[in-house]
Amino acid sequence: MRTSPLKANAHIVALRPATLDDVPAIEALIARSARTLAIKHYTQEQIEAALLGAWGVDTELIDDGTYFVGEASGSLVLCGGWSRRETRFGGDAYANRRSRLLDPTQEAARIRAFFVDPRWARLGLGSGLLARCEAEARAAGFGTAELVATLPGQRLYAKNGYHGSQRVSYALPGALAIDFVPMRRSL
Ligand SMILES: CC(C)(COP(=O)(O)OP(=O)(O)OC[C@H]1O[C@@H](n2cnc3c(N)ncnc32)[C@H](O)[C@@H]1OP(=O)(O)O)[C@@H](O)C(=O)NCCC(=O)NCCS
Repeated sequence: MRTSPLKANAHIVALRPATLDDVPAIEALIARSARTLAIKHYTQEQIEAALLGAWGVDTELIDDGTYFVGEASGSLVLCGGWSRRETRFGGDAYANRRSRLLDPTQEAARIRAFFVDPRWARLGLGSGLLARCEAEARAAGFGTAELVATLPGQRLYAKNGYHGSQRVSYALPGALAIDFVPMRRSL
């Protein structure tokens, strides 16, 4: 994907592949998104513990060219991507990561780490980026996409054709745990 626009009401958000130089700004976006938009579903302690690794930038996706950022007025307002690798979620600091390339004819592409700036929520940015990621995964030969949704993310994905409602508990630092929901759809 080269630079391309996404519409959010009357605003245009410029979407482009993320670079390693974007990492500090992406980490800041992930933190402000999670702290505001996830607080109805998780405790503050769970959010801060998830920000230590479960929610973060996976630079392998940036190297692969499959992680994207949306910019408006010089700030990042959106990030997210897809992956042809086995890791299901987690930034570089997260332990359970697997770089193995998936077989598109047998396995599902991963949808990864969508975060929207709270001031830009519910404007269609998440859905717009999701459609772009799915189109790229389809073009790469994948017939299915899967993801591990947060509880706030579950509604976005359900609205966009993903199935799955079984909550799974994942361990977080500090002897905490957090519920996510594995979901998938055919492309
Ligand atoms: C989940 C998230 C990425 C959604 O991004 P978004 O740009 O606001 O999503 P969209 O505007 O495309 O929403 C599409 C639909 O999803 C559903 N949806 C999204 N956020 C919702 C919310 N907070 N409450 C209820 N429904 C919601 C709605 O059906 C919405 O359509 P509508 O606004 O026409 O009713 C964003 O809320 C976010 O960054 N959350 C915090 C981080 C997070 O949990 N990320 C998901 C990781 S799996």
